[in-house]
Amino acid sequence: MARFEPLPTVRFAEGELRIIDQTLLPGRYEILSLTTVDAVCDAIRLLRVRGAPALGIAGAYGLLVAISEGGGGNLRDRVDDAARRIAATRPTAVNLGWALGRMLIASRTGDVSDLGAVLEREAHAILAEDLAMSEAMTSHGATLIADGDAVLTHCNTGGLCSGGGGTALGAVFAAAADGRSVRVFADETRPLLQGARLTAWECAQRDVPVTVLVEGAAASLLSSGNVASVFVGADRIAANGDVANKVGTLGLAILARRAGVPFYVVAPSSTIDSAIPDGAHIPIEHRGDDEVIRFGGIATAPSGVDAYNPAFDVTPADLVDAIVTERGVHRFPYQFTGKR
Ligand code: MRU
Repeated sequence: MARFEPLPTVRFAEGELRIIDQTLLPGRYEILSLTTVDAVCDAIRLLRVRGAPALGIAGAYGLLVAISEGGGGNLRDRVDDAARRIAATRPTAVNLGWALGRMLIASRTGDVSDLGAVLEREAHAILAEDLAMSEAMTSHGATLIADGDAVLTHCNTGGLCSGGGGTALGAVFAAAADGRSVRVFADETRPLLQGARLTAWECAQRDVPVTVLVEGAAASLLSSGNVASVFVGADRIAANGDVANKVGTLGLAILARRAGVPFYVVAPSSTIDSAIPDGAHIPIEHRGDDEVIRFGGIATAPSGVDAYNPAFDVTPADLVDAIVTERGVHRFPYQFTGKR
């Protein structure tokens, strides 16, 4: 039994992939039904569904959409083609390729007449495992949070980033559910404001006090002595523990080390890519200029100006005090090898 009710971030019913449309929050809470593979790909590219574990689940269910959408040709070919298109949407979160890979392996078992049932079972298993991993990793993470702690976090790592239970922010909610008094400082997370829009919304939903800050204020906050720890998620963790996460995470890790504040990463083992030795091998998504030089349709820089807009950065393992997975709290030096 989960310590707190998971959000219905990504679900599949009646041939439709149903997601909370995260681009509308905090203004509107709306479930969006996706009935074509094109719509699934657009939703991922536009961050209507986002966060590494949620991307994996959406990708898996996206293959069921490929089946229910119909169309000509061989069913297995249609599924393979959908997997290729969905995998190409966003490169950094390893969970997307991992979940699609699992689905394709499952698709090779049994007869093609069973394909729909086989894939539905596998996708449901991926969601159920994600919820179970959230429950375990947030419990382990909560052991690092004491009564009265203020936790600084970046991006959104609550129920919206996963099957519904969350990762780093989920650990804060688990500590609160255990009766500890906790407060959250949420980095706004430019340019798409996942911290201000989504983390603050989730905290409000769960009655956890939250204060939003611009990233530029993180240095003074960390040196003020008012933050007990930094908790972030991850999009891909290399075998040596280097962590790719939302751009700005590296800066926070450097600041936290300088201020003597512990820096923790919470992520499921589906985010660990033990096939790559270190963070230099992690593909980093770069997004369009407009996200940086326009805001709400209004130009915030002179027209024609270029923008540098990597969506993620890589934090070296030695700046990470612990990586928390569903298996427990791992301490530096890290060595993630073998099967996930
Ligand atoms: O671009 P996004 O919003 O998909 O980026 C999400 C993050 O960087 C999260 O911190 C990450 O997926 C962690 S959730 C384990």
